[in-house]
Amino acid sequence: MNYKTAYSIEDFRQIAKKRLPKGLFEFIDRGNDDEVAMRENIAALQNIKLVSRVLNDATVRNQSIELFGKKQLMPIAIGPTGSAGLTWFEGEIELAKAAAASGIPFTLATSSMTSMERVVKEAGGNLWFQLYMWPQRELSHQLVERANRAGFDALIFTVDTPVAPGREYNLRNGFTIPFKFTSQNIIDVASHPRWLFGVICKYLMDSGLPRYANFPEHMQSRITALPMGRSMATNESLHWDDVKKLRDLWPRKLIVKGIQHPEDAKLALQAGADAIIISNHGGRVLDSAPATIDILPEIVKAVKGQMSVLIDGGFRRGSDVVKALALGADAVLLGRATLYGTASGGQSGAQAVIELYRREIDRVLGLIGCRDVADLGLDHIFKKN
Ligand SMILES: Cc1cc2nc3c(=O)[nH]c(=O)nc-3n(C[C@H](O)[C@H](O)[C@H](O)COP(=O)(O)O)c2cc1C
Repeated sequence: MNYKTAYSIEDFRQIAKKRLPKGLFEFIDRGNDDEVAMRENIAALQNIKLVSRVLNDATVRNQSIELFGKKQLMPIAIGPTGSAGLTWFEGEIELAKAAAASGIPFTLATSSMTSMERVVKEAGGNLWFQLYMWPQRELSHQLVERANRAGFDALIFTVDTPVAPGREYNLRNGFTIPFKFTSQNIIDVASHPRWLFGVICKYLMDSGLPRYANFPEHMQSRITALPMGRSMATNESLHWDDVKKLRDLWPRKLIVKGIQHPEDAKLALQAGADAIIISNHGGRVLDSAPATIDILPEIVKAVKGQMSVLIDGGFRRGSDVVKALALGADAVLLGRATLYGTASGGQSGAQAVIELYRREIDRVLGLIGCRDVADLGLDHIFKKN
C-alpha cells in the first residue's frame, strides 16, 4: 500500500509504521504511561453522535472559515510536532507546503530540524510558530523576536509540559535524547533502508545529522549529542506572567496551548491571549487528563465571544472535526494524522491526508443537511435522555 491507495488515517498510519524504524514510529504514534488519555481522546469523539436534518438542500457546502482575520479553506490547522523533520527529509518544509497548498495554517515547533527562516522562505502560507519557554527565559524571548522578524502570523505558547512525561516505550526502544545506540536500534534502522537513505543519508549529505535548527547557536547540538529535545521542553516555573511578557513581546496573534480548565481559559484571556488550544498534548503528557472534546463545552461557555477556542487530540475523521465545531470550537488542530501523511509521502502524503479530511468533512455536512460549518451548533449534537 502507498499513500495513493490510503483511504483512512489508519491506512496512512500503517504506511508510516512500515516506513519508519520502530523507535521513531512509536515516538510519534504512542502516548504516555498506559496511554489512556490518548485512547480516550479518540473514544470520546467516537461516542458523540450527530443529528441529521433531512430534505434541507445541502447541494452547496462550505467548510472555509475566517480565523484571526484570515480566510482558511478548511476548519483545521497543522499543530506543532517536533519530529516532522525525522519522518521525511526536511519534513517540516514538506508539511508546511502541503498546508499552504491546502489553504490551512501550519505550525512550526520550537524543536524542529528546519530553521524558521527557511520554512517561511520555502513554504510560505499562513504560518504559526510554537514556543516552549526555557527556564532561561531570555533565550525563549530571543526566539520570539526571531519568529517576529521572520514574519510568523501567530505565536503558540505550549504550557502543558512543566515536567518531563514518562514514556516507557522510548526507554525500551533506546529512543532517548541523547540517542542511545544499541544493537536493537541499529538493527531497527538497518532494516528500514528506505528511511535510512531517504532521510538520514540525505541530511548527512546536505548539512550533517539533523539539529535543532531553531535553538540558540550554543544549544544547537545534533540529535545524537547533548541531552535536550524533550528535556528542553520542560520548565516547572511557568507562570501567567510568562503569558503577559509574551503579550508585550509579540505583536500578532498569541495562542496558549494546553488549556484544560475554564478558569485557566479566563486567565489566558486576562493575560492578553487572543486564543487558546484545548489540548492534552495528544495524551502524551498527563495520562489521567480528560478527553479534550469532553472539556470543550465548559471552556467555550467560559470565554465565548471573547477569544477563539481551538482544540486538538484524537481527531482522525472529518466527522470528529464537525463535532468539535458543533460544540463551539473555532477550529481543530491535527498532530499525528499529518505526521503519518508526511512519513508516507512527504508533501504529497501530507496533502493527501488534508484532502481526506476535506472530503470527509464535506460528506458529513451533506449527510447531516448542513450547508456551512458556520451553521453548526448544539442542535447537531445528539443528546441521550
Ligand atoms: C510526535 C509528536 C511531537 C509533538 N511535538 C510537540 C511540540 O513540539 N510542541 C507542542 O506544543 N506539541 C507537540 N505535540 C502535540 C501536538 O501538537 C498535538 O497537541 C497532539 O498531537 C494532538 O493530538 P493528535 O496527535 O491525536 O492529533 C507533539 C505530538 C506528537 C505526536
